[in-house]
Amino acid sequence: MRNIIKRIIHPIAKIGFKTYFSKPRKYKFENVEAIVHPGVFPPHLTISTKILLNYLKTQSLKNKTLLELGCGSGIISLFAAYQGAIVTASDINPSALQGLKVSSSKSDLHISIRYSDLFENLTNMRFDYIIINPPYYPKEPKNIKEEAWFCGSNFEYFKKLFFQLPEYVKKDNCVLMILSQDCEIKHIESIASKNNLSFKSILEKKVVGETNFIFKISINEEFN
Ligand SMILES: C[S@@+](CC[C@H](N)C(=O)[O-])C[C@H]1O[C@@H](n2cnc3c(N)ncnc32)[C@H](O)[C@@H]1O
Repeated sequence: MRNIIKRIIHPIAKIGFKTYFSKPRKYKFENVEAIVHPGVFPPHLTISTKILLNYLKTQSLKNKTLLELGCGSGIISLFAAYQGAIVTASDINPSALQGLKVSSSKSDLHISIRYSDLFENLTNMRFDYIIINPPYYPKEPKNIKEEAWFCGSNFEYFKKLFFQLPEYVKKDNCVLMILSQDCEIKHIESIASKNNLSFKSILEKKVVGETNFIFKISINEEFN
């Protein structure tokens, strides 16, 4: 039923969203605000960003180091900085990074903003929290905007991410990834597993018929 409704609403909604997001739009959570520029992942449209924000609200972030890997609008980074975390935000989308620069200076929140393809420009850094809301649909992205949604037809994003990630997963830190029931969770988990990483669901949230899961990623015990 959910799929039938989606199939009917999707084409109409797509035109409306395209027009609406052709201009910079604000996204507010609690006391922080991000400007979402055209071509940047709009957190208004999906529930994943909001679920992560609500989860982070329950954590004591003061003086904790936090990386938002693939920050998009950076609303998660802005909120974490507002909560007292020492934040690094990275992305490959220059409009996202430029937009976050403006949002953070407007809110007077310090965030270290970096261009980085996954961990490429984050080597030798250690974080208490790493937050990942990944592109998860298996299709080749045609442009920088689509990199927010598509992970490559053979899950290349995840293959590269999980190859690099073990170096950043520590016994005492928290690496979190949100995934929806709409994506191929089992397949993504199997790529992680090939790199000695395991998923543990720490939060499950159903909104409008779609369940999202926050997974904590750890190194498999025998390799720790
Ligand atoms: C689903 S969006 C999430 C944005 C933001 N974290 C949020 O929750 O609203 C995924 C983000 O990852 C970025 N991204 C995709 N591939 C990346 C890569 N190889 N390295 C860094 N960021 C990447 C996209 O540009 C996009 O901003």
